[in-house]
Amino acid sequence: MTHADTMPLEVIEVTRHGDVALITLGNPGGGALPAWQPGAHIDLHLPGDVVRQYSLCGDPDAPAYRIAVLREADGRGGSQWLVDHAAPGLTLAGAGPRCHFPYEPHEGTTLFLAGGIGVTPIAAMAAQARVAGHDYRVAYSGRTRAGMALVDELAETHADRLALHVSDEGTRADLDGLMMSVGEGGAAYACGPAAYLAAVEEAAERHAVALRVEHFTPVELAEPARDEAFEVELAMTGVTVEVQPGTSILQAVEEAGAFVLSSCTEGTCGTCETPVLEGEVDHRDSILTADERARNDVMYVCVSRAACPRLVLDL
Ligand code: FES
Repeated sequence: MTHADTMPLEVIEVTRHGDVALITLGNPGGGALPAWQPGAHIDLHLPGDVVRQYSLCGDPDAPAYRIAVLREADGRGGSQWLVDHAAPGLTLAGAGPRCHFPYEPHEGTTLFLAGGIGVTPIAAMAAQARVAGHDYRVAYSGRTRAGMALVDELAETHADRLALHVSDEGTRADLDGLMMSVGEGGAAYACGPAAYLAAVEEAAERHAVALRVEHFTPVELAEPARDEAFEVELAMTGVTVEVQPGTSILQAVEEAGAFVLSSCTEGTCGTCETPVLEGEVDHRDSILTADERARNDVMYVCVSRAACPRLVLDL
């Protein structure tokens, strides 16, 4: 795996809210950090050769990054260590920021939907909409109020544009009602756990609301469109690589000596985005919208495959 170039990020401040740690990260040398836009995430390299992605949830004009990290006892490792060990002075290798979940202004109302720790990119996007004077609403769902990160900050920033839905207070979100409130020309953005996003996607479809989601974990994959080997031509060198069933394009092209940046290897981070020059892609990532898939101009080679015998990629 070839990771993106890293930069040192030093923990400046940590505040804890239930199982969530809010961590501010700065440049240890005191200089500026790369610019970012709401919806962006950074990679953090953690012990055990683990790389995790965290959405930025602070102010893009601030000199430091801010992330919120949930301690997940049954998670995939990394975040629990970070919640327990983050302290001022700790320096980690980071990469990015990278954004595959940008907020774009809409003519109608924008509905921001956050489930649990999925509030992190949503908080930054809603703040952007507020500053720009757009018509927006935020609906934030969680199990307990005490476990909902950024809840006080959101209440202060968004006042009556924010609706809190707290399961143990009996105020679960009415997703159909929320989708109906979007109206013509509007759109919804959502981030949260897989089950929450699945419910949001179904409600958006029922009410024909344009929806963009960010997944933390990969969507459940259907069987590949083809169960046979296929060829990938690397346009820059003219080399053709055969990709066997059970091998990813990323693995096959790296074995052939091509250079492709990657990080999550599960189709969620966007690092391995590759332009498609010819051929039809079997998109299996958790990033692209249906329209973006239909354009067939980029693919994520860590998980996506060919829906035809031969692809030509800009590699
Ligand atoms: S490496 Fe993360 S999407 Fe491919």
